[in-house]
This record gives sequence, C-alpha cells and structure tokens, in this order.
Amino acid sequence: MARQLERGLPHCHNSQVVLEFQSNWLASGARLDVQELRAGYAEDVLKGVTFSVEPRMKVGVVGTTGCGKSSMLLALLRIIEPRGGRIVINGIDTRDIGLATLRTALGLVPQEPMLFTGTLRHNLDPFKAYTDGRIKKAVNCCHLESFVKSLPLGLDHQVSDEGGNLSFGQRQLLCLARMVLRQPALLLLDEATSAIDPATQESVQDTINHAFPTSTMLAVAHRLETIMEFLGHQVMMLL
Ligand SMILES: Nc1ncnc2c1ncn2[C@@H]1O[C@H](COP(=O)(O)OP(=O)(O)O)[C@@H](O)[C@H]1O
Ligand SMILES: [Mg+2]
Repeated sequence: MARQLERGLPHCHNSQVVLEFQSNWLASGARLDVQELRAGYAEDVLKGVTFSVEPRMKVGVVGTTGCGKSSMLLALLRIIEPRGGRIVINGIDTRDIGLATLRTALGLVPQEPMLFTGTLRHNLDPFKAYTDGRIKKAVNCCHLESFVKSLPLGLDHQVSDEGGNLSFGQRQLLCLARMVLRQPALLLLDEATSAIDPATQESVQDTINHAFPTSTMLAVAHRLETIMEFLGHQVMMLL
C-alpha cells in the first residue's frame, strides 16, 4: 500500500502519505475481501471464512444463533483481532489501517443498541458535524419524527442511563439514524430491526434499502424472511 501511494507521491513525507490514504481510499465505495478469516474468543468461532463484496453491494448474512455472525462484524471492526487470514478493504489489509481510520470508514448498528448519557442530538451527532436540518431528516427517515415531537425538549431530550429510558426499538432506530447521518462507506447491521414493532418494520426496511446508496452493506439477521425483505432478494451468504 505504502509503495503504491509513494509511486503517486514520490517526494512526500510519511504523514502526507497517511493523509492521502485517509481522504481518498474509499472515494469510489468500499470493496471488502475476507480471506480464510480465523477469529474468536478462547476458541476460534470463525474457522476460515472467505467472501468478497463489491463496492456498494448490499449483502445479507444469515445463520443460526451462535454461529458467529456478530463475531464476524466485530472482527471487521478489529474489536476482536483476526488470528489468521486477512480482511482487506479496497486492497488494504485492515491490520495496516489505524483503528481510528478503520472505524471511521465502518459503521455498526449493533445487536445491543448503545446510547450515551446525554441529549438525543448528542447521541445522533456526537462530533457536532451536522446541521439540525440534517439531523431532523435522519430522524424522519428512521420514523422517529412523532417520537421526537412528543418530547417537550425534542432533540434536547436527555437520554438517561445510557438509553434506559427509551425502548429497545427506539434505541435501535436512533442507532440507525446515527448511521443515516454518517453514511459510512461500509455499514454493518446486526439484527438492527429485531425489536421494532411489525407496523414500523416494513418502512424501516425501506429506509435501509434506500438511505445508504453509496454504502457497502452487510446486514445480519437470524430470520431469512427479514433478509429477503431487507434486500429485495439480493446476494445472500450463509455462515
Ligand atoms: N465475548 C465472548 N466471549 C466468549 N465467547 C463468546 C463471546 N461472544 C460470543 N461468544 C461465543 O461465540 C460464538 C458466536 O457468537 P456470536 O458471534 O454472537 O454468534 P451469532 O451472532 O451468530 O449469534 C457463540 O458460541 C458465543 O457463545
Ligand atoms: Mg449475533
């Protein structure tokens, strides 16, 4: 990687190489190649997983509970480190990428939606990177408009207890709205709609199908039906 970049930038210093790499490497979408990946905890859970995803492709991941779907997403984020094989994004091994750069490129809606103690606005936009207009659009897009309007303080509503005063489904939708704002190059959804009521499910699936046009997406579900609805019968991968 460094050699390739240096060819293009023959006289620059290392820091400039890093800068170039951070700003341009995902400009035309993220391609993901997982090769013979081994990872796990005391024992390996992923025992030689290989697949590739083209830039901007939406892929469903299905498999029985405990087969390692969440672990695979954690390995992509290097929350668990691969013990063997490679995870390559646009030709670059994720072990050669700084964690901050990697985790800026990737976005996760986790199986257990995580919120911070603070306002709704802070939860949606922790780095104060977006206008209120953009935040409201993301909220509407995730069917949280009436919920936010029902709160006396709206986006300034205080999330207490790391989200304990919100329902699980509301927390999932807020985590999704956070990603709608961020538009990560590689979006990872881990059973992201599991607790959303059936009436809202369909429209949330529509959001997922349309709100991330430039993201490469891996969507995990343990129900095949959910994946089919999510992705309109696109590519499927069984672990
Ligand atoms: N933090 C952990 N420590 C030890 N074992 C774990 C941990 N998390 C998950 N596992 C085990 O790894 C296996 C895969 O889990 P997981 O990736 O959560 O599966 P899935 O998401 O497909 O249901 C399971 O056997 C689970 O018990
Ligand atoms: Mg899981």
